[in-house]
Amino acid sequence: MSGRLITLGMGPGDPDLITVKAARILGQVPVIAFFAKVGRQGHARSIASSYLREGVEELRFDYPVTVEIPHTDGRYIDAMTGCYDHAAEAIGARLAAGQDVALLCEGDPFFYGSSMYLFDRLRERFPMEVVPGVLGMTGCWAQAQAPMTHGDDVLSVVPGTLPEDELMAALARTDAAVIMKLGRNLAKVRRVLAAQGRAERAIYVERGTMADSRILPLAEIADGAAPYFSMILVPGRQGQR
Ligand SMILES: C[S@@+](CC[C@H](N)C(=O)[O-])C[C@H]1O[C@@H](n2cnc3c(N)ncnc32)[C@H](O)[C@@H]1O
Repeated sequence: MSGRLITLGMGPGDPDLITVKAARILGQVPVIAFFAKVGRQGHARSIASSYLREGVEELRFDYPVTVEIPHTDGRYIDAMTGCYDHAAEAIGARLAAGQDVALLCEGDPFFYGSSMYLFDRLRERFPMEVVPGVLGMTGCWAQAQAPMTHGDDVLSVVPGTLPEDELMAALARTDAAVIMKLGRNLAKVRRVLAAQGRAERAIYVERGTMADSRILPLAEIADGAAPYFSMILVPGRQGQR
């Protein structure tokens, strides 16, 4: 009988913020798999550390590229496709041999998660289980103590990678916003928020819920490249609630 692929949400960073179910599975599975940037331990793997059973097999897959090439570039797409194909093959071999594999994912796996590419590749061939995780953004707004939506507020999640005019249009339509994937887009995002009169209430969160997190008003952050784990929160309804 085949093993199961368990796509496991690992939460935003603080190991106490994984679910009871994820902790139980980590203590039982014979194999874990995760992606990591070359030379780093891997964020999801480090969250899992204290929950793993002794002797667990670890399948580590290095991202061939991260932010060096735009994600729309053909070279980026080819490199990532090769990486996901290779990972699917290695995980598929363990599943075919009857072993369960837990695929570790930051935050929630079905919210901008790389694990979805493996889920798509393997779902027809093997049994699947998906365990949700606390989203990065919920961890960030809880730590920032920023109430985000009230009443009929609309909340939008917007990638900072969008062109400036699309960012402007997306943010104009919403009351509250979470702007993810900041990287080199910080100055552009700030221009758009300033044009809409929202820059002053925007909150910058870096490495939310992790030991070295930083939370500051956006106004206190200099333009320049923001780290991978960073986002901007724009709380919704202001004034009387
Ligand atoms: C590819 S998405 C993955 C989202 C993840 N699956 C989740 O549920 O939050 C990565 C982006 O999420 C945001 N992010 C996730 N966790 C974060 C955290 N703890 N602190 C700040 N930003 C975070 C950043 O904007 C980062 O660029």
